[in-house]
Amino acid sequence: MIVAPSEEVISEAVKLLQEGSVIGLPTETVYGLAASIYSDEGLNKIFSLKKRPKTNPLIVHTHSVDGVLSVGEPRSSKFFLQLSEFWPGALTLVIPSKANVSPLITANQPSIAVRIPAHPVALTLLDELGSPVAAPSANKSTGVSPTEAIHVIEELGESIFVIDGGPCSVGLESTIVSLLEDTPRILRHGGIPAEEIAEKLSIPLNSLLLEGKGKAPGQENLHYAPKTPLSILPKDFSPSGNIGVLTFSLTPPKGVKSKRIDNPKNFYPTLREFDKLGLDRIYIEEPKESGLGRALRERILKASH
Ligand code: TXA
Ligand code: MG
Repeated sequence: MIVAPSEEVISEAVKLLQEGSVIGLPTETVYGLAASIYSDEGLNKIFSLKKRPKTNPLIVHTHSVDGVLSVGEPRSSKFFLQLSEFWPGALTLVIPSKANVSPLITANQPSIAVRIPAHPVALTLLDELGSPVAAPSANKSTGVSPTEAIHVIEELGESIFVIDGGPCSVGLESTIVSLLEDTPRILRHGGIPAEEIAEKLSIPLNSLLLEGKGKAPGQENLHYAPKTPLSILPKDFSPSGNIGVLTFSLTPPKGVKSKRIDNPKNFYPTLREFDKLGLDRIYIEEPKESGLGRALRERILKASH
């Protein structure tokens, strides 16, 4: 069920979360499937609805730095304070977790992923609830992330209570930065470009991109994938047949179903649209390895099959 945000709807959502239900939550990155961090019943529903393995930990969403500090304890306050300037925003920090956090959220690891989302509906809800929620993207595990309320219903069914916050303004998941080691590391590219993070920390971009000890679990395998097979568009390719071609900078070819994705926020919805066309394969231009191109590239490489 999709509902427009209002005071009553926010109160209803708060009640649902407190009772151990899950809700579809708009954020600026992608729609989340949220449960109260204090309800193992709700947290268990996230895993069963998404068919997500319990070895894949969840991101905690809160409306303030105090909320962040209620679930985690940063080792270095310098990096933490610098990066918290991106909040509210598309940045998730991995820091040591506090002992009282449900192991369903951390997948039994000693760390926790946290962010303050920059969507007014999410912030109002978190404020009214008075405590954080855990929220993965509201799609079936391995599938295309939802950037509109209707996508949540398409992925998870009509019974989910989804607050309609409009199309996501970023449309790509948050960038995940680990602060568990002496040097900050990017575990997943996302809505805040690596270049901006390096600049904020005054460290070389390369050191942020080095592989540290921890990768984000659940990032290794097929991910973000449409049902239709997806490949990188080969150079000098003459497209024909029942295929689709998506480009970023190239002019879309004639003679086959094709489209240029003019803004990164249109990546997921276009993939979702093309997935419904019954194509034999979708070819997509390899994005440049800079700015938001890094996030697009990482997703396309993980979605290729
Ligand atoms: O933009 C976003 O981050 C969205 C919206 C809803 O906020 N959420 C999102 O959640 O993308 P999800 O579950 O689809 O992806 C979370 C990623 C997973 O790859 C998970 O393994 C990683 O975060 N993660 C969570 N906790 C972690 C931890 N303690 N250490 C390392 N990675 C962690
Ligand atoms: Mg996801």
